[in-house]
Amino acid sequence: MFASLLVYTLLAVNVFSASAFPAYESLAGLSRDELDAVLPTLQSAVPQSPPGPLANDKTKLINDAAHPHLPLKDGDIRGPCPALNTLASHGYLPRNGIVTPTQIINAVQEGFNLENTFARFLVFSTFLVNGNPITGLMSIGGATPLTGLNPPKPATVGGLNSHNNCEGDTSMTRADFFFGNNHDFNETRFQHFVDYSNKFGAGKYNLTVAAELRNFLHQDSLKNNPQFSLVSPRLFTAYGESVFPINVFIDGRQKDGQLDLTVARGFFQLMQFPKDFHRHDGAISNQGFDYVYNKYPISPGANTKGVNSYKADLTSATLFQPCLRYSSFVNNNIKALYPNPTGLLRKNINTYLQFLFESTAADNCEQVFPYGKDY
Ligand code: HEM
Repeated sequence: MFASLLVYTLLAVNVFSASAFPAYESLAGLSRDELDAVLPTLQSAVPQSPPGPLANDKTKLINDAAHPHLPLKDGDIRGPCPALNTLASHGYLPRNGIVTPTQIINAVQEGFNLENTFARFLVFSTFLVNGNPITGLMSIGGATPLTGLNPPKPATVGGLNSHNNCEGDTSMTRADFFFGNNHDFNETRFQHFVDYSNKFGAGKYNLTVAAELRNFLHQDSLKNNPQFSLVSPRLFTAYGESVFPINVFIDGRQKDGQLDLTVARGFFQLMQFPKDFHRHDGAISNQGFDYVYNKYPISPGANTKGVNSYKADLTSATLFQPCLRYSSFVNNNIKALYPNPTGLLRKNINTYLQFLFESTAADNCEQVFPYGKDY
């Protein structure tokens, strides 16, 4: 433990010396300005306790003068999540796309009224696989030296683009990882969203459309993606994402559950709040996901021998087994990335695991401790 602490302490000290950089191969090509931006991020950070719910969760103006939409600057990072992209492009998150868990929780609550425990689970599960537990930083897109020195492999710290846990197949506006680009807006994909909204929603995206489109996306991946997989935890995010646009992309003063397609394109492609956008009235999470699921129920599973070979995976949590989702995520997904962490790394991972567990309080799950209880 002492050895690791020492390593990270030295790193924290060395960041102020440019001569320390040969160790960071990916930093070597950065300009002086870029280095100036990187340097402060390379220090270790004590994990911050997550923020609580909003004191006032009523609807309010979000696209305001203090948060203008600005075009991307060189080096700004965006990724597969239209909500986080939009929050960054309006300055509710750092505009460069490098964020802390606390910043994300504050931003999704303030900008979209995402419910606190739901936000915490999403953020800490994603951060544990895609963020840097030493510096407390995560990219909302691809991997970057801006999140600091990576912990030892097999940890990836790959940012939200990483195809592993939260990012996965059957997205509405991004292609499956197998086809080469799982994070940029894809017009062909969005046209399915438009076509289904026209066919089943009279030109709007609503719950009926969400169920039909999800079934189409599942069948499409099953027939065309030889590596198609839809198991926990991705299973949960896939169904959540089907209803998010209805729950929070619709203006909080509009109560009919019908998302306009120009507004949808604004979020998914342009990363922009509509003019005069007001957030949802009251905290909300994935309400409606069970409607989408029950219309076309599926078993978690994967294509195991090329296209059209979908086989149920009985080890995966279903949408209605949140505790299995939590425990297998920690014991399998996290353990695979961090088989034997030591020192500060172990201490911080244990703290983030504690934050993750606390977000499951309503499910009464039994806590699991893959790295012991001291932190
Ligand atoms: C109000 C909050 C949020 C909303 C409305 C939202 C909405 C969405 C939607 C609609 C998608 C699907 C994109 C598509 O299918 O084309 C998506 C994808 C994604 N979101 Fe978010 N999101 C929110 C918060 C978060 C948070 C807190 C995280 C993690 C820190 C996150 C991470 C992701 C990732 C990794 C994807 C890619 C998943 C995939 O489609 O493969 N999102 N989000």
